[in-house]
Amino acid sequence: MTNTEMRPTSASFTTSGAMPRVSHGEGVYVYDTDGNRYIEGSGGPTLFCVGHGNREVGDAIKAQIDRIAHGYRYMFSSDPLEELTALIAEESGGGLTRMSFVSGGSEAVESCLKLALQYHSANGEPSRRRFISRQRSWHGNTLGALSVSGFQARRAPYEGALIEGSQLSAVNVYRPPPNVASDKVAEFCANELDEEIERLGAENVAAFIFEPVVGAAGGAVPAPPGYAKLVREICDRTGVLMIADEVMCGVGRCGAWRALDVDGVTPDIMAIAKGLSGGYMPLGAAVYQDRLYQRIIEAHGEVISGHTYTGHTTACAAGLAVQKIIRRDGLVEKATADGDYLRAQLGQAIGDLDFVGDIRGRGLFIGIELVADRDTKEPYDPELQLFIKVRTRAFSNGLICYPTGGSVDGLRGDQIILSPPYTASRAELDEIVDKMATSLRQVRETL
Ligand SMILES: Cc1ncc(COP(=O)(O)O)c(C=O)c1O
Repeated sequence: MTNTEMRPTSASFTTSGAMPRVSHGEGVYVYDTDGNRYIEGSGGPTLFCVGHGNREVGDAIKAQIDRIAHGYRYMFSSDPLEELTALIAEESGGGLTRMSFVSGGSEAVESCLKLALQYHSANGEPSRRRFISRQRSWHGNTLGALSVSGFQARRAPYEGALIEGSQLSAVNVYRPPPNVASDKVAEFCANELDEEIERLGAENVAAFIFEPVVGAAGGAVPAPPGYAKLVREICDRTGVLMIADEVMCGVGRCGAWRALDVDGVTPDIMAIAKGLSGGYMPLGAAVYQDRLYQRIIEAHGEVISGHTYTGHTTACAAGLAVQKIIRRDGLVEKATADGDYLRAQLGQAIGDLDFVGDIRGRGLFIGIELVADRDTKEPYDPELQLFIKVRTRAFSNGLICYPTGGSVDGLRGDQIILSPPYTASRAELDEIVDKMATSLRQVRETL
């Protein structure tokens, strides 16, 4: 591997001269125009669930574009849109039959927030405007989605202009709230929600939004068993809608098609994206209960939200092709089993490294947290930008992984997400483990 040393350091809008140019992809591998090869340890940002260069998906996109690229939503529905709606409703279960297709995760979250507001207006409770969310969570970059996000570094430049909301403790058994034992995290955090609703007055609260397994802001952090059920009970009792943000953890990545299914819980509204079209076209969806839709239609006649590209026909065709592959090839079951395998292999390969504090996750969504002291869980000084060092080192070793910072308090903490395509073979998973272990050892030597 001769990949050059310096690699991207920020998720900025503009490219920097330091980044290689992408050439093509095949399965779990990506090639740059200099001929270097990279393995998809994280499927980009937990995105490429069926790998790159999939011919079936490519053919479906081309066939759709050859017919028509897009049927605009005020005039037409389309076969891909209708078929994808039916497939998602079936996979989701629990009455989640209504959906609006948008162009990505942030728009999906934004739509979920607005659906909650419109539902309460339609339901005669227009005072329900407030959103409750959690610290160390990420819901997207549009102003609404950013407002409910608990990712300090990404919020900072926009503070003062964000929608006021409530943010509760992060739900993390490795880093419980102060003075809370790990086995009490579920109850404590659910109680916090109950108390906040009480404090605000339920009549003022629209929805609670959370990631069932936290992604970028925490590093693949599942909530402890029982938490989601307690939240469901609180929402049912108070009329607060439950919004599950499954943009990263959903669509088969975490042990079931819907991540919250593993907890035996159905949300009122759910955001999905990423694995929905696996990166082949920009696509996300707000999926919601029919009873919400019926109430909105009775009162307002239509869901008053949408965009030019809502229900984009070719994007839906791409999503449909990806979802048919996932279903036909049993990829949800494969991802679940491969996740256990990958975690076990990582445990063997890096578990003895003294700066690996935690290896966690669910399904094929795995987080590694790095700490300066394993006993106290003290993180490294954020000035070190350790997570960026890991990203840079791994990339130059030909491994794409997804390190982020801030898992401890929004600023301190270094975590790495591994979330390979569901299609990765065991040999490819082994290669990811090898490269991750090598990269971490190399970084450790520099500290
Ligand atoms: C949980 C979650 N919600 C929302 C988003 C925003 O999605 P997008 O980047 O597609 O706008 C992300 C992106 O990483 C995410 O992880």
